[in-house]
This record gives sequence, structure tokens and C-alpha cells, in this order.
Amino acid sequence: MDHKTSRILLTGSNGQVGRELQHALQPLGKVLALNHSMLDLANPEAIRHTVREFKPDLIVNAAAYTAVDRAESAQELAMVVNGVAPGVLAEEAKRSNAVLVHYSTDYVFDGSKTTAYIETDVTHPLNVYGATKLAGEQAIKASGAAHYILRTSWVYAAEGANFLNTMLRLGRERPELRIVDDQVGAPTWARAIAQMTVQMLSRQQNPAADSRYGLYHLTATGAVSWFGFAQAIFAAAEQTMGIPAPRLIPITTSEYPLPARRPANSRLDCSRLGSAFGIQPAAWEKMLAACLQEKASLQATAHPQD
Ligand SMILES: NC(=O)c1ccc[n+]([C@@H]2O[C@H](COP(=O)([O-])OP(=O)(O)OC[C@H]3O[C@@H](n4cnc5c(N)ncnc54)[C@H](OP(=O)(O)O)[C@@H]3O)[C@@H](O)[C@H]2O)c1
Repeated sequence: MDHKTSRILLTGSNGQVGRELQHALQPLGKVLALNHSMLDLANPEAIRHTVREFKPDLIVNAAAYTAVDRAESAQELAMVVNGVAPGVLAEEAKRSNAVLVHYSTDYVFDGSKTTAYIETDVTHPLNVYGATKLAGEQAIKASGAAHYILRTSWVYAAEGANFLNTMLRLGRERPELRIVDDQVGAPTWARAIAQMTVQMLSRQQNPAADSRYGLYHLTATGAVSWFGFAQAIFAAAEQTMGIPAPRLIPITTSEYPLPARRPANSRLDCSRLGSAFGIQPAAWEKMLAACLQEKASLQATAHPQD
């Protein structure tokens, strides 16, 4: 890309990935970062108007309806935001020769495969969220716009509503936590997602005819269960922040019923990202350590006396 003249429209700029992208995209051009209140993806006319006014060369869609359990009873809204809006963004991208970057999820799969999923594996979402995200992927593909769809998994960041922060909060409140041990995936740091996205875009030679457009899996390397992830979180938090670990009890999914079903196997094979762009994601343990370092330093800045 011509980094000096790029105009970049970022949606969902207050989300975990959106916040990181807001910083990471800066070297690539002029970034118009829009949060939910500035651009509501449930409003297709607002999307069209915004894109036509700003005339971006690149659209990065980090907005999504991500409340997996709530989506089961808010199917219509989840479909408009996750299924319809990406198609509108893609139509607008096509119309103005812009490139669209969009994020999708491991929840497009049913988890019945015994090894990691590759991009061409058959999709079969188990829940409404997964079905709406799949509809978004399909709408983008159908538009004919130049695009990257990046499927990621188990996203967390130092701030925001995520498993890491839920664990640290519950760990302070309760002596014992029961955590699901029969769902396996790759916890992925939002900052790493943003950085790898920017690496891909920086390695894009010719935006008008890049043969590498398409669908990619982009997660941390390795895999762990939620229980194993919780163990690693408390081990690292004890070291970096002196937070004592609660007792952790492994349980099965059936012992912790939730409105939305989740895949048992969420592992995504990222070799396509490696062969097309030479990008090798870091191990999930390394990402977790880096994020907790950042969290510790944020806390030290917020409470210098502690
Ligand atoms: N989180 C995960 O574990 C996970 C896993 C796999 C894939 N992904 C995908 O990765 C991408 C980034 O996820 P994330 O973890 O950064 O999610 P996030 O932290 O929940 O951020 C999503 C952002 O989208 C905004 N949003 C929701 N509805 C919107 C609407 N109608 N119009 C405009 N903005 C809206 C939210 O704003 P409000 O909070 O103000 O509503 C929020 O700032 C998404 O495509 C997601 O599907 C996430």
C-alpha cells in the first residue's frame, strides 16, 4: 500500500481489537476511528454515508455483536450487525476500490474435527453468534470486494470484558473457581491480532491485484482448555502482580450450561498466514505473559502508591 496517502476507516474502535488497531494502523495512513456511538452498524444507510463521505482506501471492521450468549435471544440484531453490515461495508469497498479487512471466529465450526481447522474446512456453527458471523463472511465473499477475512479465537486484552479479566475479578471474590476443561482453543491477545493485521497490510504489494486476498486463520500458536488457560493466568498473575490464585476445579461443559453451545475443538491452523505472508504467530503463553506485563504496568501507573 502507499502508506502516505492511505485513508483508513476503522469501525468498532472501542472494542478490544479496535483499540489496538487504532494505534497499530497509524503508520499506514490517516485513520478515521469510529466507535459504536459514532457509527452504528445496525444502520446500513449510516454505513453507506460514512464510507462515501470519507472515501477510504482501506476499511477495517473491528465492530461486531460479540455477546455470544445474549445473541441466542437477540438473533435479529446480531444478524444485522454481524451478517448484514459486513456485506454493506464490502459493497461500499467494491464501489470505491477500497480493501476490506474483517474479523471472524472459530465459532463458525462445530468443533467435531479432531485436529486444527483449516480455512477450507466445512463450516457448521453451533450457535446464533457463529451463524451470524458466517453470514458476514459469505456476504463479503459474494460482494466481489478485495478483502481479508481473519478468523481469530478467544480474544482478550488488558482492558475490556474478557475471560482474563473475569478470572482475575472472580479470583479476588471467591476461594474456588470451577472452569470448563473440555473446550480447547488458542487464547489470542488483541494487540497481536492488530499487529499481525498491520504486518499483512504492509506486506501487501499491489492493492489492486493482490492474489493473497481471502480467508485466513489468525490466532496464537498452540492450544489449551479454558481450565488450562485459567491456571496459566493465575500462575502468571501471581508472579507479575502478586495476586494469590484461587483453587481451580476442572469441570465439563455439561456441568456449566450456557444459552449458546460452544465447539469442543476451536483450534485454527494458521499455516496459510505463514505461507502467504511469512507471519508466524507467537505462542499463546507468550502473548499472555506480554499482556499481563502490560496490565501490571497500567495498574502501577493508575495506583503508583500500591
Ligand atoms: N472476543 C472474542 O473472543 C472473539 C473471538 C473470535 C472472533 N472475534 C471477532 O473479533 C472481532 C473483534 O472482537 P473484540 O473481541 O474486539 O470484540 P469487542 O471487544 O466486543 O468489541 C466489539 C466492538 O463492536 C462494537 N459494536 C457492537 N455493536 C455495534 C454496532 N451495532 N455498531 C457499531 N459498533 C458495534 C462494540 O461497541 P459497544 O461495546 O459500545 O456495543 C465494541 O466496541 C469481532 O469481529 C469478533 O467477532 C472475537
